Amino acid sequence: MEIKVTLTTAPKAKPQDETQLGFGRLFTDHMFLMDYYAGQGWVDPRIVPYGAFQMDPAAMVLHYGQAIFEGMKCYRRADGGLQLFRPTANFARMSNSAERMCMPRLDEEAAFEGLKKLLEVEQEWVPHNVGTSLYIRPTMIAMDAQLGVHAAKHYLFYIILSPVGSYYKDGLKPVNIYVEDKYVRAVRGGTGFTKCAGNYAASILAGDIAEKKGYSQVLWLDGVEQKYVEEVGAMNMMFAYGNKIVTPMLNGSILPGITRDSILTIARQMGYEVVEDRLAIADIFADAKSGKLTEAFGTGTAAVISPVGKLAMNDEVLTVGDGNIGTISQKLYDTLTGIQWGTIEDKNGWIVKLS
Ligand code: PLP
Ligand code: COI
Repeated sequence: MEIKVTLTTAPKAKPQDETQLGFGRLFTDHMFLMDYYAGQGWVDPRIVPYGAFQMDPAAMVLHYGQAIFEGMKCYRRADGGLQLFRPTANFARMSNSAERMCMPRLDEEAAFEGLKKLLEVEQEWVPHNVGTSLYIRPTMIAMDAQLGVHAAKHYLFYIILSPVGSYYKDGLKPVNIYVEDKYVRAVRGGTGFTKCAGNYAASILAGDIAEKKGYSQVLWLDGVEQKYVEEVGAMNMMFAYGNKIVTPMLNGSILPGITRDSILTIARQMGYEVVEDRLAIADIFADAKSGKLTEAFGTGTAAVISPVGKLAMNDEVLTVGDGNIGTISQKLYDTLTGIQWGTIEDKNGWIVKLS
């Protein structure tokens, strides 16, 4: 499939200070686009200068929220070459999200070719500093101008790129998490396992309240009994008990994180016992109090691994372990980031080298 490339005549200046990148504030010069029309499939793959879309105010995505996205990263190795981490897993998950939202499955091969071509055009935008990367945001939205609640017939798939530092402003420092027992994010049978925009829209209020109380993110409980741990706003959750790592099982209402899967695989390969189960928040709190729970951390593409320092629910605030990053979290972080940035051998076939 031929990808038409139109280059910008006004390239932006690249960031001078890579220690100040933050997350998702700055975008590169170009984007990849591809349309889907019912009866035709995916057509017109193209790279164009980054810029605003023309959209009808009645476009279905703006009213009924058929919108899904992905998040992955392009890493620069010490030798200057570029690589991706499990990109096909992201495109496969996007197709699964699409199916649930009654959107067309992605042409995963065309999307991957589009991404590779876009990264070729934008290679200079992949930052160099330790811990930085080029965040990749594939997105699919419904474009038809129509107010009936039905599946659209025209969808736009696009990929935008953003040079990023760490997701949390404090980097690898432990984050404090608020356990949300009023609002819920997802219910079984709903869209929790997808990366649809609506899941995030539903999470913003609780996130905002938690932030005002001084917490970085919300830990969601199950939507039925509000007793069991689900996940954090942008991360899956893991808990360590000595050499055992436990994490909520995939139940349809949490996102099957690619970092989650990678960390569970690495942990097994390192000899840790790994358990996927239903985890009651009351047990986690009791175990944190008694000292049985030794570490807690979140996993996600944007956040990588984020140790949890404090867990709070209502007026109860608990410190996990000694409040600092634990040994297992540090070891898993070092191994995963080593594979991603190319300093540790990838034994699992996860890395796709681009240059
Ligand atoms: N859970 C949610 C709700 C997320 O938004 C993310 C981020 O993508 C994750 C978990 C972690 O998923 P992944 O490791 O695939 O980035
Ligand atoms: C990611 O980790 O890629 C995410 O999508 C998190 C995002 C919601 C900021």
